[in-house]
Amino acid sequence: MKDQILVTGGAGYIGSHTTVELQNAGYEVIVVDNLSNSNENVIDGIEKITGIRPAFELADCTDFDKMKEIFGKYKNIKGIIHFAASKAVGESVQKPLLYYRNNIVSLLNLLELMPQFGVKGFVFSSSCTVYGQPDILPVTENAPIKEALSPYGNTKQIDEEIIRDTIYSGTSYKSIILRYFNPIGAHPSTEIGELPNGVPQNLIPFLTQTAMGIRQELSVFGDDYSTPDGSCIRDYIYVVDLAKAHVKALDRMLTDKSEKNLEYFNLGTGRGLSVLELINTFEKATGVKVPYKIVGRREGDIEQVWADPTFSNEVLGWTAEETIENTLRTAWEWQVKLRERGIM
Ligand code: NAD
Ligand code: WQD
Repeated sequence: MKDQILVTGGAGYIGSHTTVELQNAGYEVIVVDNLSNSNENVIDGIEKITGIRPAFELADCTDFDKMKEIFGKYKNIKGIIHFAASKAVGESVQKPLLYYRNNIVSLLNLLELMPQFGVKGFVFSSSCTVYGQPDILPVTENAPIKEALSPYGNTKQIDEEIIRDTIYSGTSYKSIILRYFNPIGAHPSTEIGELPNGVPQNLIPFLTQTAMGIRQELSVFGDDYSTPDGSCIRDYIYVVDLAKAHVKALDRMLTDKSEKNLEYFNLGTGRGLSVLELINTFEKATGVKVPYKIVGRREGDIEQVWADPTFSNEVLGWTAEETIENTLRTAWEWQVKLRERGIM
């Protein structure tokens, strides 16, 4: 019997790409998602890519009884990857209690249920946002955690602390916390990709929608930062590379490759790119112009952050491989496919 992996939020952007890579690695995947920020046709897309339709449970991870029922239904859940969360920074400022409830109660339910069902490994989706504006760049896993700039970022810090305290209390399972930098792009099949609801808050979906003519022009939030061209710098990582890191993390725990019960890994390329550099790279990679204007800074933005991925490379055995040019091309091809399908 194949090891079963429960993927919460598996119909979402990163979860769906990770489900594909888990299936490619021979795992049996069970997706749990309440579709609050996704659509069940993502499951169709996964099946088109791999030929395997993952089990799908329409459920809210904050519903303890429902989650217990799901754990009881599947008899061989060996690992969990917890993507399910609310993740819009701006919205979290407007609706903090929604974020604290959703992002913390869903975690508590999983941590309480895992020991009852023999789960061995737990992967948690965290974010480089926990570092705030690092004092030293590139940023390593030992960088200090800075005061959160939003309720969303605070939920990630609180969740990391809950996991740490739980593991240190003595558990029958191990955990790996993955801190993502800026995931972008789409699966090369264009069957799955990023599909934000409403007006995109993140750079790449807004950029590709502008390139498609859906948005009139891209606003670049500030060019007066202390960076070479004045715009903010980030570490943009291909979502498929990011997905593959999750398989590595699960393998590491399920095959007991580490004596440690809790580990942290930065998932980035180690390459910082400014907003203006990214626009320029997109235009060269796709041949498509992106009308933009420089506007004022966005509140809460940090100036520059990119990863030191050495620990992930050497210990997790994972390296981001895709070029930024090809990554941006997948984002554009996904946008074109959405237009062809009449979705936007
Ligand atoms: P997403 O919104 O595309 O996916 C999250 C999925 O979880 C959605 O399908 C949503 O319907 C589901 N969900 C939310 N609350 C749920 C609940 N209570 N029960 C069941 N399902 C629920 O987001 P994403 O970009 O794929 O992010 C996945 C994870 O990675 C999140 O935890 C996010 O905080 C984290 N993360 C994302 C980024 C990024 O830039 N996308 C960066 C760092 C960390
Ligand atoms: C990237 C850069 C903007 C939009 C956020 C969350 C983080 C994580 C990833 C969940 C910044 C600039 C953006 C636009 C712009 N999400 N920008 N015009 O802010 O690095 O991280 O998403 O975990 O927690 O904070 O990503 O894509 O929003 O912005 O100029 O229309 O692009 O100022 O410098 P960010 P982003």
